[in-house]
Amino acid sequence: MEAFDKREIDARVREGLPFRHRWHNRFHLEMPFGLINDPNGLTYFDGAYHIFYQWNPLGTVHKNKCWAHTSTRDFIHYRVPELALWPTDAHDKDGCYSGCGSVINGQLKALYTCNAKDEAGVRTPAQRWATLQEDGTLAKGAIIVAKNPPGYTGHFRDPYLFSRHGRRYFVIGAQREDETGTVLIYEETPTGWQCRGELANRLGEFGYMWECPNLIRFGDYEALIFCPQGLEAREHDRQNLYQAGYVAGHVSLDGMTMFHGKFQELDKGFDFYAPQVFQHEGRNLLLGWMGMPDKDSDYPTKEEGWMYSLTLPRELTLRQGHIFSKPARELRELRVQESAITLDTDLTEELEADLYEGSEVLLDITLGEAQRVRLELVYGLEKVALLFDRTTQMMVIDRNGMKLGGRGKRQFRLFVDQVLSLQLFADKTAVEAFFQHGEEAAAFFVFPEKNIQPELRLYSDAPMESISGRIWQLDSFKFR
Ligand code: FRU
Repeated sequence: MEAFDKREIDARVREGLPFRHRWHNRFHLEMPFGLINDPNGLTYFDGAYHIFYQWNPLGTVHKNKCWAHTSTRDFIHYRVPELALWPTDAHDKDGCYSGCGSVINGQLKALYTCNAKDEAGVRTPAQRWATLQEDGTLAKGAIIVAKNPPGYTGHFRDPYLFSRHGRRYFVIGAQREDETGTVLIYEETPTGWQCRGELANRLGEFGYMWECPNLIRFGDYEALIFCPQGLEAREHDRQNLYQAGYVAGHVSLDGMTMFHGKFQELDKGFDFYAPQVFQHEGRNLLLGWMGMPDKDSDYPTKEEGWMYSLTLPRELTLRQGHIFSKPARELRELRVQESAITLDTDLTEELEADLYEGSEVLLDITLGEAQRVRLELVYGLEKVALLFDRTTQMMVIDRNGMKLGGRGKRQFRLFVDQVLSLQLFADKTAVEAFFQHGEEAAAFFVFPEKNIQPELRLYSDAPMESISGRIWQLDSFKFR
């Protein structure tokens, strides 16, 4: 087990802020050093949103998993992140893996997976409580489930608490012995936490492991969010190595069954995984990990000493079985300077605008005669392109114009009648695009070779009817 010196690590984080490197993002959570992944323990507690996330403070590799912690009241001002939970004993010696948070008896309680492997690599995953202390650490408490149940392998992790009719449950990612993925439900009883078995569903065989489940509510409906591994890429979706998506419908805990529609992805970009949702004042807020497991070579910040970000907070709504995601409304407070784009001409086939170091772009493109529209973020000689084809109703994100980092394309269906609507957040390297008012979202990184502010360019194959929109310069997150 490595040694974790909280004082030393916290001091180094403090020194590393504000960020100096040109690839560091300004309004996406990230760390000055080490590797971060899944958001964990998202909880509204004591007047603030508490955000934890997986962090290896000792290097840019997937090892030494700890939990970092920050909190915010407005998603703009944050506490300087600190080390909150780290491996200390035989149970979690190979990592304090992902988990959730909840307010129980006036305390912020986390429930996390303790990862321990023997010499042969066999895992014994235990689920354990931890309680947030005044000093910012999570004090480890009781282990409530000591190992994977019979019939399931050691890939048993990422508990997510929820309650129904006054009873407490958690859903957890699991792998059956035949190496297919599923989720299990546990219920709290007077004699401890009992495994209620799998939540039966209509997906059939669906990958070899499901990570990071969340069971959330939208009024009378529910959605099971999870990250299946081992699905084949298809023409319009599932194009990343691993997926992050959901099924929506109704859950019966009596019958341990979910009636649901098709599996849909939450994000169609390159860099989105392991999202977690928390509910507060009727809102379902999501944070995702901007990254992808087993794809470290796509991220050139590795050599600069840090890796990955969290997404912007997104507000989820369910409409006709589909989850819409929009940037949380608090983010409007980041806007510092505004310029309008209005072009009302039937001769428009091109538009160019300079962007800021951090920008938000809102565009409504009334297509008119245009069948194909191409929007580019141009960084000198490099660019990333979003291409919409109306005849096939397909959006393509093309990173082949970038030299560094992951390349390739992602394509997905986007239903547009007359107006293509786009909201784009372009940070230094993290970009998040929201299409058709949140019907689709896409998170992806670009690592421009030179430190230049991007230009926005829009082209079409025939005159567009009109373009209206706005561009804002965005401020950075503030840490204190
Ligand atoms: C998902 C994941 C989780 C695990 C954690 C470890 O990215 O593999 O299943 O708990 O990361 O860091």
